[in-house]
Amino acid sequence: MSQSNIIKSIDGAVVTLQFNRADKKNAITADMYQLLADGLNDANKDPSVKLVKIIGADNAFCAGNDLSDFLKNPPHEDDNPVWQFLFALDAFEKPLIAGVNGPAVGIGTTLLLHCDLVAASSSAVFALPFTALGLSPEAASSLLIPKQCGLKKATEWLMLGERFNAAEAEKFGLINCALETPEQVSEQIEKWQAKLLKLPFESVMATRKLLRQVDDGNVKARMTQEGDIFKRLLKSDAAQAAFQAFLNR
Ligand code: COA
Repeated sequence: MSQSNIIKSIDGAVVTLQFNRADKKNAITADMYQLLADGLNDANKDPSVKLVKIIGADNAFCAGNDLSDFLKNPPHEDDNPVWQFLFALDAFEKPLIAGVNGPAVGIGTTLLLHCDLVAASSSAVFALPFTALGLSPEAASSLLIPKQCGLKKATEWLMLGERFNAAEAEKFGLINCALETPEQVSEQIEKWQAKLLKLPFESVMATRKLLRQVDDGNVKARMTQEGDIFKRLLKSDAAQAAFQAFLNR
């Protein structure tokens, strides 16, 4: 893995973290999780940073955990980069914006629950195939999807693993707006960014904190609870067989 699988760029007060592994639909390896975790934690600590954007490529946002890397480096230890990234998402205190084109699978969808503003194009396909993979939800999605999108929809998405598009994601409140093209997604992100940067930063931060206060502590606790189940299921015959089936397609 080279650092270039996650590109971190800084433009004034804005940090952009971009998935850059388009040939693998931006599937995330352990090294990439570490770069994402470090990118978020560093931006959180740096007083000059006011906003972080997470983007992918025009053909893929993120295909979730790299299943081959997952078999080789299962995240059994608590300090594994997978869990570090999830905890960094929960601990992040500044506006977090994402733009989605193409597949957003597993963590590619669940990370959006932690973003403040999300735009997606008509090419976006969201999927949470945890049960088909013999796994269970992560990133506190078992808490946040029922809360943000409703229990029945959460059941379709998380238990049945049904895929959905940007229009459905917008309708049920997973994203802010469903647009047509990747260009429109970029424009929308630029508009949000420009607006946020003009507002008094302390007010923006205070508002974000208040909006999320109801989840204080619950998100990290659910991530930990989910993680214990996920780690156990990862060792199961069902998960091992599902991973091999994907890799041997
Ligand atoms: N782990 C490892 N490799 C992955 C991957 C993943 N999660 N997702 C995609 N890739 C690889 C494919 O193996 C393929 O590699 P190859 O060109 O060397 O054969 C390449 O990325 C392109 O993927 P492909 O399946 O051909 O693209 P597609 O546009 O037909 O489908 C997806 C895209 C994302 C829908 C499909 O790749 C997929 O379902 N991936 C698995 C998603 C998943 O289960 N993630 C884990 C969630 S916990």
